[in-house]
Amino acid sequence: MADKPLRSTKSYGKLDRDGFIHRSWIKATGLPDHVFDGRPIIGIANTWSELVTCQIGLRDLAEFVKRGVWEAGGVPIEFPAMSLPETQMRPTAMLFRNLLAMEVEESIRANPIDGVVLLGGCDKTTPGLLMGAASVDIPAIFLSSGSMLNGKFQGRDIGSGTDVWRFSEAVRAGEMSLADFMSAEAGMSRSAGVCNTMGTASTMASLTEALGISLPNNAALPAVDSRRKVLAHLTGNRIVQLVKDDVKPSDIMTREAFENAILLHAAIGGSTNAVVHLLALAGRLGVPLSLRDFDEIARDAPLLVDLMPSGRYLMEDFCYAGGVPAVMAELGPLFRRGALTVAGVTQGEIAAGAKVWNRDVIGTLEAPVGPSSGVWVLSGNLCPQGAILKPSAATPALLTHRGRAVVFEDIEDYHARIDDPDLEVDETSILVLKGCGPKGYPGMPEVGNMALPPKILKAGVTDMVRISDARMSGTAYGTVILHVAPEAAAGGPLALVRNGDEIALDGPNRTLDLLVDDAELARRRAEWQASRKPPAYDRGWYRLYIDTVLQADRGVDLDFLVGKSSAEVTRESH
Ligand code: FES
Repeated sequence: MADKPLRSTKSYGKLDRDGFIHRSWIKATGLPDHVFDGRPIIGIANTWSELVTCQIGLRDLAEFVKRGVWEAGGVPIEFPAMSLPETQMRPTAMLFRNLLAMEVEESIRANPIDGVVLLGGCDKTTPGLLMGAASVDIPAIFLSSGSMLNGKFQGRDIGSGTDVWRFSEAVRAGEMSLADFMSAEAGMSRSAGVCNTMGTASTMASLTEALGISLPNNAALPAVDSRRKVLAHLTGNRIVQLVKDDVKPSDIMTREAFENAILLHAAIGGSTNAVVHLLALAGRLGVPLSLRDFDEIARDAPLLVDLMPSGRYLMEDFCYAGGVPAVMAELGPLFRRGALTVAGVTQGEIAAGAKVWNRDVIGTLEAPVGPSSGVWVLSGNLCPQGAILKPSAATPALLTHRGRAVVFEDIEDYHARIDDPDLEVDETSILVLKGCGPKGYPGMPEVGNMALPPKILKAGVTDMVRISDARMSGTAYGTVILHVAPEAAAGGPLALVRNGDEIALDGPNRTLDLLVDDAELARRRAEWQASRKPPAYDRGWYRLYIDTVLQADRGVDLDFLVGKSSAEVTRESH
C-alpha cells in the first residue's frame, strides 16, 4: 500500500453507487473482488498494431509486463494508444506525434490509474508517449519494443534506412541494378523490431535510458531476444514500486537528466530528430532547455559508438558490445552520475556495473570513434531562430562552404525538377527546399536529406550542402542543414531565397547566412506577403495543428499543450 492515497481509490475504493459502477464493469475483465483492496492499478499504454512491425512484439511484451505487475502486488490494465508507423503514414508520422501525446495524456487522466507503463518503439511513439505521460505526471516507466536483427544482403550486414539511401543513390548513379535493389528489401527487415541503425527509434530508446525513465538495456536488447521479456517483467515490477514510492516523471526527468540525454545523444551519433523531441518533452515538464544547449552541453562529447548512419555497425552489435550502460560508463566525468532513474539507482551506479565487450563498436574518451559529435546549432540571417547540422554524418570539406542556391519551392517542385538533365546545378551549388516545416507540409517530414541530381551523382559526387525547414530520417547522412526556423510557411527568411543567391555556411563558427542585402530582402518579403495563400487544410486535426504548432526551436509541440495538466479530475461521470 502507498503512504499517499492512490488515485484509483477515488473510483474503486468507494462503497456507493459510483464505486459499484467503476468496479462492476472492470470486473468483466475477470478481476476478483480482492484485488480492489487498495493495490496500485497500473495502466499499460500499448501502441501495438499490425501497421507497425517495428513494435509487433509489444503485444507479447505486455503480457510479461503484466506478470511483473501482478508479482509486485499491482493490478495491470492494458489499453491501446495510437500507433504511428513511420514508414506507412502520410503525409508524415510526425504530424501525429502530438495527437498521440494528447491521447495518452487524456487516457491516463480520465482513468483510475496509479502508474503507467508506456510501450512504444517506432520513432514518434517514444516521444509521444513520454510527452503525454509527462503532462499528467503520475509514476511512469518506458519499455521499448527493441531493435531488429542485423539486415543481411549478399553476404554482408545492411542497415535499416541508411542502406536504402545508399542503394537508391547507387541505382540513380547507374551503379546498382534494379533487381539487386528490389532483392535487398526482404533482407533488410528480417525480424520484428525497430530500425537496426542508430536511427530515431534507437536514438530515442537510448535516450530513455539516459533520461532515467526506462530500465538499463532498454535500447539495445534485440526485439526477439528473450532477455527483453525479462526486461518487460522487471519493468512491471518496478512500476509498482514507483507508485508505492510516488516517484513521478518530473522527479526523474530533471535538467540533469536532459543534460545526460544530450551527452549520450552526441556519443551515440544519435538522430537529429531527438532535438525536437527532447525540446518538446522538456517543455511538458517545465525543464529549461534551449536549442543552443544541444551544441554547448555536448561540445566535449566525442562520438563513442561506431553505428550506422555515422559509422559501421548495427544495434545487434551495440547490444553485444555493452549497449547504453557501457557508453555511459565511458562518458565518465562528463556524465551526471547522480541523476536518479526508475531503476531505483543512480546513473553512476548503473555505469559502475557496465563494461565494454567490443572496442570496435564502443570507443573511449581517449580513443573515440570520431571527434566531437552531437548537433551543431547554426544561427544567421537565414535561420534567425536556429537550424541544425549533424557533423558526424556530414562531409568534413563541406562544413565550411559558399555556393549558389538551387531553390525548390515545395516538395512537388523538387520531385518535378531534380532529375531534369537541364537543371542548372553543379557540385558547389546548395540545394534549398522550402515548404516542409511544421505548418508548411504540414508535419515537418523527413525529406531534408533530398537525393542529389543524377548528373551530380554520375560525376561521382556523393554529397552536397542541402538546406530546408524539414527534418531528416535518423538513418540518413550528408551535409544537410535541417529544422530552419522560422520555416518558410511561417514567413522565415527561407521563404525569400531565390535561385542563384549566394549562401555561406561556416560550420565551425555556427553561422548560416543568405548573402543578399536587406533592401532586396525587404522587397521580396512584401512580394511574398502579397502572394500568400490560405492553408490548404481547413478542418480537423490538420487545422488545429497548423494553427497552433510551434517552430522547430520549440520542439514542434502545440502551443496549448506545453506544460502539465495534472492528474486531478474532480468530477464523476454519473
Ligand atoms: Fe519504425 Fe524505423 S520505421 S523504427
